[in-house]
Amino acid sequence: MTSVAVVTGASSGIGAATARRLAAEGFHVLAAARRTDRLADLVAEIEGAGGAATAVACDVTSDESVAELAAAAARAPGPVTLLVNNAGGARGLDPVETGSVGDWQWMYDVNVLGTLRVTQALLPALEASGAGTIVVVSSTAGFTVYEGGGGYSAAKHAQTAIAGTLRLELCGRPVRVIEIDPGMVRTDEFGLVRFDGDADRAAAVYAGVAEPLVAEDVADCVAWCATRPQHVNIDRLVVRPLAQAAQHKVHRAG
Ligand SMILES: NC(=O)c1ccc[n+]([C@@H]2O[C@H](COP(=O)([O-])OP(=O)(O)OC[C@H]3O[C@@H](n4cnc5c(N)ncnc54)[C@H](OP(=O)(O)O)[C@@H]3O)[C@@H](O)[C@H]2O)c1
Repeated sequence: MTSVAVVTGASSGIGAATARRLAAEGFHVLAAARRTDRLADLVAEIEGAGGAATAVACDVTSDESVAELAAAAARAPGPVTLLVNNAGGARGLDPVETGSVGDWQWMYDVNVLGTLRVTQALLPALEASGAGTIVVVSSTAGFTVYEGGGGYSAAKHAQTAIAGTLRLELCGRPVRVIEIDPGMVRTDEFGLVRFDGDADRAAAVYAGVAEPLVAEDVADCVAWCATRPQHVNIDRLVVRPLAQAAQHKVHRAG
């Protein structure tokens, strides 16, 4: 029977690439996000390539919406074996001194409480499958800090805490917990969301970096971790572009 993978934040960037890749690996993908028009295009693309996917409208900040995602997972045509908690992002690059409480609140709600809600809602199905996997897409900001990144780093550190705690709590049960921490990934929307639609500021993040990671690189990491034999738990995978040795050490041409 086909295994089902749930991917949150599947309407763009890393989530969309992950949905495409997991469908190519043979999963029936439940692609979840708020923008259903995007999800419909993605599902059509996946089906056109011979894969299987279902679009599910889901706001990870809403209990009711996440309950509907769990109900959709229960109707899916196979056991739910994989959850990719990918929905998230950053807002603002302000110092702690002047950072917007609203931005911090948004980052905590989506990245942290979104991961908590969706994980709680799908854990029974993942465990019932007998071979479940939970992936948390955190960030290199989940283990280091940088100026202006306080709110995002706090949220990503919290996601890292969820992944580590859950791995301890689930020890002995058939669900593994994997954290993936990407560094600089050039996606279409991450920077636009962070800088409130300012395309120049968003582009400046990648200025002079010949080859930042792309969404497909992270999708490749998710797929690799998720397709190891079930007794193999990749606790944490850190992936950066070659040009980024650390948050503060990026090689830029010119
Ligand atoms: N790009 C990077 O450099 C980078 C590096 C490390 C980690 N990450 C992490 O990787 C993940 C994906 O980032 P990305 O670069 O692919 O960004 P992106 O293109 O902006 O994608 C973010 C996704 O999250 C979804 N989302 C936002 N709020 C949501 C909500 N309330 N409910 C459900 N879905 C929601 C968005 O869909 P809708 O708006 O349609 O709901 C979108 O599909 C994030 O967790 C991010 O923090 C990114």
